[in-house]
Amino acid sequence: MNNIVFADLHSHFLFGVDDGARNLKKSLRMIEHAQENNIRYMVATPHVSEVMNDEFSQLIIDNFRQLQEEVLKRDFSVKIFLASEILFNEDVFKWLDSPWSTINANKKYLLFELPFFTLPQKIDEFIFQCKMKGITPILAHPERYFYMHNKMGELLNWHSQGCLMQMDAGSIVGQFGKKVLNVSKKLAQMEFYNIVASDAHDVIGRNYQTMYDAYDKLLESLDDNYVNKLVWYNPKKIIDGEKVTPDPVKPESGKFSIKNVVGKVLGKNKG
Ligand SMILES: [Fe+2]
Repeated sequence: MNNIVFADLHSHFLFGVDDGARNLKKSLRMIEHAQENNIRYMVATPHVSEVMNDEFSQLIIDNFRQLQEEVLKRDFSVKIFLASEILFNEDVFKWLDSPWSTINANKKYLLFELPFFTLPQKIDEFIFQCKMKGITPILAHPERYFYMHNKMGELLNWHSQGCLMQMDAGSIVGQFGKKVLNVSKKLAQMEFYNIVASDAHDVIGRNYQTMYDAYDKLLESLDDNYVNKLVWYNPKKIIDGEKVTPDPVKPESGKFSIKNVVGKVLGKNKG
């Protein structure tokens, strides 16, 4: 195990609020597991949908408070923070004063995901509205929306509008299949991503060790300065509410172009 440390912007270790940790004991086990894998900062990002209400909002806040108290009693080197993974909806702006709606309640960064089966409308408008409010939106795992695989121009547009992009560590190590692996690889080569996060749900399967595996995988073909930005410098800045300046996306080229990679993958699958 080398000296790399990680700041993990996206995982489901907060108990009793989604499909992640089921109870307090499991949350603590996940945090311990994160620490064993050199994660130093970790953000709880429970799933939040448009059906958010006061009761659920309070549950997130109460459970996080309880977890934080337990963490402080122990000799953990890891620091935990609160945010959420918001399923795309404009109602989220009603919740901006809630501590879970932006990362570390900094009102600077917000993590959102898209539905897995249908591309919603007005994402440009959502990004614009976020920016108008001084908030930088971060799109979770763009490589995992299959309907986006032939809409790469759209992804690049959102990026150019100031939406940051977060890759799931599991994508680049093949946890979500070959199509997702190839798209994430290509997008990483273009330096399209700004963050890599574990999106861990447990200590087995989608866990924190995946950060290590992804880190090693990315270093095989990418510059280490860029990779270190993805797993540490950028997520740390985001937690601290500091400005992240995205690197320009490198143009796609030749046989490795998005069109070719995606076409090849889709073609293969049809057969
Ligand atoms: Fe997630």
